[in-house]
Amino acid sequence: MVKDLIIYDEAKQVFHLTNGHISYLLAVEEGKTLASLYFGKAVKAYHGQGKYPRVDRGFSGNLPGSLDRTYSKDTLPREYSSAGEMDYHEPATIVRQLDGSNALNLEFVDYKIQAGKPALEGLPAAYVENDDEAQTLTVVLKDQLTGLVYNLLYTIYRDVDIIARSVKVENQGQKEVYLEKVASMQLDFVAKDFDTISLPGAHVNERHPDRKPVAYGRQVFESRRGTSSHQMNPFLALVGKDTNDFNGEAYGFNFVYSGNHAISVEKDQLDQTRILVGINDYNFSWKLAPNETFQAPEVLLTYSDQGLNKMSHAFHEIIRERVVRSEFKHAKRPILVNNWEATYFDFDEEKLMPIVDEAKQLGIEMFVLDDGWFGHRNDDNSSLGDWKIFAEKFPHGLGHFADYVHAQGLKFGLWFEPEMISYDSDLYRQHPEYLMQVPGRAPSPSRNQYLLDLSNPEVVDNIYHQVADILENNGIDYVKWDMNRSISDIYSVALPADQQGEVYHRYVLGYYRLMERLIQKFPHVLFEGCSGGGGRFDAGVAYYMPQIWTSDNTDAVARLTIQYGTSLAYPTSMMTGHVSAIPNHQTGRQTLFETRGAAAMSTVFGYELDLTKLTDAEKALVKDQIKEYNQVRDLVVNGDFYRLKSPLTSNQAAWNFVSKDQNEVFVASFNILTAAQPVFTKTKLYGLDPNKNYQNVATKEVFGGDELMEIGLFDPVIHQDFTAQTYHFKVVD
Ligand code: GLA
Repeated sequence: MVKDLIIYDEAKQVFHLTNGHISYLLAVEEGKTLASLYFGKAVKAYHGQGKYPRVDRGFSGNLPGSLDRTYSKDTLPREYSSAGEMDYHEPATIVRQLDGSNALNLEFVDYKIQAGKPALEGLPAAYVENDDEAQTLTVVLKDQLTGLVYNLLYTIYRDVDIIARSVKVENQGQKEVYLEKVASMQLDFVAKDFDTISLPGAHVNERHPDRKPVAYGRQVFESRRGTSSHQMNPFLALVGKDTNDFNGEAYGFNFVYSGNHAISVEKDQLDQTRILVGINDYNFSWKLAPNETFQAPEVLLTYSDQGLNKMSHAFHEIIRERVVRSEFKHAKRPILVNNWEATYFDFDEEKLMPIVDEAKQLGIEMFVLDDGWFGHRNDDNSSLGDWKIFAEKFPHGLGHFADYVHAQGLKFGLWFEPEMISYDSDLYRQHPEYLMQVPGRAPSPSRNQYLLDLSNPEVVDNIYHQVADILENNGIDYVKWDMNRSISDIYSVALPADQQGEVYHRYVLGYYRLMERLIQKFPHVLFEGCSGGGGRFDAGVAYYMPQIWTSDNTDAVARLTIQYGTSLAYPTSMMTGHVSAIPNHQTGRQTLFETRGAAAMSTVFGYELDLTKLTDAEKALVKDQIKEYNQVRDLVVNGDFYRLKSPLTSNQAAWNFVSKDQNEVFVASFNILTAAQPVFTKTKLYGLDPNKNYQNVATKEVFGGDELMEIGLFDPVIHQDFTAQTYHFKVVD
């Protein structure tokens, strides 16, 4: 193997990971301490000029036993720190030992460079299809006293500007220890004036980009909800003051994990910035016996010198191409109609059939039966855990209804919420111990439902068999996998007292195991993730399910910000969007059918309304939309996506999708509020070939790629709120 992506300079003890676009440099410093040297635009070679200057600084002490007052771990930019060192920042790892101490001294002992990228046991992660795509450096750090070994993994990809980092801890000592914190990565930057861009939100209001200067002290972007959460997505960007979508420096960090996370950013006395990304240490403690290992999840890192679009592009590529495994990753995802906002719980077979008939007439490709088909569920107070057909609604069985849907030429999809249990369920009556609760305390309901203890393999097994049975026997083509509450009452009857700190993470591992079994058994079923919309929208889920319901908010205007924000970290192939009824059920807003179409068409497309109630004019619009989506759906799933205008900073939003060969472009642009005296605005495209000519498919007008990018298109002046334009261009000679 040519180890061309990772070079080790043995004399200087410097590792250089580079693919010609980005460089990542780390070095072994005094005291066998691993130091951060550089991460950024590629340099061809490193000649040693980044060596840490020696300065005697008060109150930043020195290595144990050393007389050198000019070297301190407190000011050295480092790759992985621990509690108990003279480094006063938040450490990457904390380990409680049997004598009550928590100090470690992690020294460099070894390294390995290998072709490809190893899989992470039990965890989602980016992968390679062949070993030439990437190389992996493992740096081995050891604490001699405890025998704990930390393997720091760094994979650099050849054709996408991504470095994947993770950590595997091995107990090579004689005694058990308790891991109280294991960050998946640390990176220390010498003085830089950064802003953070995070993705906070709420239910029906996910992933609204929030930009703030990095200030002195520590700020933590985290979830303690047991999931990646609506409230704070496991993504962060560190950007320069002038960085925007097109220009400037951006470092992106995307945590491939679906549970409690913490991204900590700390600016210190020397204006240095430390970023830590990993499992949240809140209520975390993992017992590691001798010879056991603990694998921390992976973080995907990228660097862009051309603004946020380039940062996002790297995440879009790696997630779509090398995190998603589904056979649907490049495929046409069926245009669906979902009955949730059409009927809620109030349906039966008779009522659904006309919707299916109408769907067929309109060219829709799949009918999705949402919540309420199982147990005796007529509202959200019962039956979770009982994945048996509700005979009152489906007197001839679900298979009979599925046959009807298939006979119309449509695929058939089904909703599940496999991680939950209702008090009013046979499962609870038979297995009350499956419900997660702290002994002696009443658990907290949320939507009147409770968590199953997925940290318990027996529970995972039970649910696997129930779900598999339904999938096997009812001709199911698609599953919407929901999760409608945050985790609480964290405790497992299957674990001893000193391992209760493992439950949050073991829950996530149980969820991953359950998903893995189901996707292996049903590779031809398309899975869509969901958690009250986008409450678990992360790259970990993408490893199992290629698409996720972006938000329960189907309002086209609200969706602009949600989709804009989501696109910072995730590809549009992962987002789903539906045209729904007006007044919108979440906001009460009235928008044009065309505007709802343009917003939803910017994602994996579908409908969520009662098709039988549409007017003839609206039905004609549905047909037009499906025709239009058919023209551009491949671009939306597989093209390069670029944000053009932000709804956060203007009255407009716009983006375009460009085919890989730059021969085709789909543009959607939105004007939010009208004005009596509107200023003229333009939409300038991005990512086209300046030397090619592009023809507007609808109007036949031809423009140069350079014209579309530099001069742009005037936005029409329309005296109406919430308008949208879509354009489809194809290259002509
Ligand atoms: C969640 C989902 C919705 C719908 C309901 C059903 O809120 O996000 O799309 O499936 O559950 O209860």
